[in-house]
Amino acid sequence: MSSKKLNIGLIGYGFMGRAHSNAYLKVNKFFDLGYEPVLKAACARKKEKLEPFAKNWGWESIETDWRKLIERDDIDVIDIGCPNNLHHDIAIAAAQAGKMVLCEKPLAMNAAEGLAMTEAVEQAGVPNMVWFNYRRVPAISLAKQLIDEGRLGRVFHYRAKYLQDWTISTDVPQGGECLWRLDVDVAGSGVTGDLLAHSIDTALWLIGGIDKVTAMTETFVKERALQDEPDVRKPVGIDDACAFLARFKNGALATFESTRYARGRKNQNTFEVNGERGSIYFDLEDAHQLQYYDNRLDDHVHGWQTILVTDAEHPYMDKWWVPGCVIGYEHTFINALADFLESLDTGEPVRPGFRDALATQRVCDAVLKSAQTESWEMAECPETGT
Ligand SMILES: NC(=O)c1ccc[n+]([C@@H]2O[C@H](COP(=O)([O-])OP(=O)(O)OC[C@H]3O[C@@H](n4cnc5c(N)ncnc54)[C@H](O)[C@@H]3O)[C@@H](O)[C@H]2O)c1
Repeated sequence: MSSKKLNIGLIGYGFMGRAHSNAYLKVNKFFDLGYEPVLKAACARKKEKLEPFAKNWGWESIETDWRKLIERDDIDVIDIGCPNNLHHDIAIAAAQAGKMVLCEKPLAMNAAEGLAMTEAVEQAGVPNMVWFNYRRVPAISLAKQLIDEGRLGRVFHYRAKYLQDWTISTDVPQGGECLWRLDVDVAGSGVTGDLLAHSIDTALWLIGGIDKVTAMTETFVKERALQDEPDVRKPVGIDDACAFLARFKNGALATFESTRYARGRKNQNTFEVNGERGSIYFDLEDAHQLQYYDNRLDDHVHGWQTILVTDAEHPYMDKWWVPGCVIGYEHTFINALADFLESLDTGEPVRPGFRDALATQRVCDAVLKSAQTESWEMAECPETGT
C-alpha cells in the first residue's frame, strides 16, 4: 500500500518519548497502513538532552518550546509525552491549531481539565487518542474478545491490582525528571492517576461503566527532598497507595488495589474476571499468557488453561512472529499506533479517545474524593464500555 506521510511533533524525550519514537519507526515495517509517520520534530526544554535524543531516534528537527511546535505548518500530529500538568494546555492549543492529538495517560490532572480537553478536540473535529497501551497487549485484547463472545456469561466480579515497590526508601526525592510522579502539583495524584488509571481503563473497556466507588488512600512517606534542590524538603501530596471498591452499572462488583510499596513487585498489573460460565486471569509480568477457566467443559476436564497468545488467530499476532515467539512491552505502543493510523483511513474513531479517557479520569476523581469523604461517590461513567 502506498502511504500518505503524517508529520509527527513529539513532546518529551523520556520514557514515553522513547516508546513512541520506537513505535513511529517500526509501525509501517509490520503493519500495512495507508499512513506513514514522519519523525518531523521532537520537543523538550533542555536542548542539551533533546539533541542527542533526536539524533538517536532520527527526529528531523527540534523545538524547545511546545508552543512553537504547535505553530509549525509542517506538523500534522502533536504527541504529548510529557508530565501530566502540561497535557491540558498543550492538547487544547494543539486542537485549536487543527492538529491531531495523541496524549499520554492519564488524560489530565483531573476531570475538569479532561472535560475541557475533550471538548476542544471534539469542537475542532481532530482525531485523538490516549495511549492506554495495555489494551493492545494481545492477551488483554483476547480477554475482551472472550468476554464479548459471551464465554464468561454474566460477570460477577472484577479484581484488579497494580503493584510496584520503587518509592519505599525515604531517600527517593520528588520532582524533576521521572520523579515528577511524586510531586502532586505536576502529577495530579499518585498511584490513582499513574497506575490505577490503567486498571480502570481496562475495566471500563472489558466490563462497562462504573457506577460508584468507595476508596481509601495512604501517603506512607510524608515529606521528601526535591530532586532538583536536594536541600529543600516538601510535604508529599500524592497517594502512595490506594484501594477501592466499585460497583459496575451492570451489577458486577470490583476491587482495585495499587501501591508503590509492595516490596518485590516491579510492575505487577493483574486482573481477574469471574463470570457465570467462566473466568479469566491476566498478569502483565506474564504478558503473553491469558488464563481461562471454561465451566462449560465436561466436569472431568474442568481446570484453568493457559492460552499462549502468540498464534496468528490472536489479536495483532499475525503482524509479528511465528507462533510461540512472544512480543513485549514496546509492541503495545506499536499496536496502538497502528490502530490510530488505520482509523484515519477508515474514519472510525480509534478507542480510547479523549472522551473514553475522560470516563477513566472521572472514576479517578471519584476515588480520590471518596478517600477524603470516606463515603461512596458516584463515578459519572457512561453505561457502556469505552
Ligand atoms: N502508557 C504508559 O504505560 C505510560 C508509562 C509511563 C508514563 N506514561 C505517561 O507519559 C507521560 C510522560 O511520562 P514519562 O515516564 O515519559 O516521563 P519522563 O520524566 O521520563 O519524561 C518526561 C519528558 O517531558 C519533558 N518535559 C517536561 N516539561 C516539559 C515542558 N515544559 N515542555 C516540553 N517537554 C517537557 C521532559 O524533558 C522529559 O523529556 C506522563 O503523562 C505519564 O503518566 C505513560
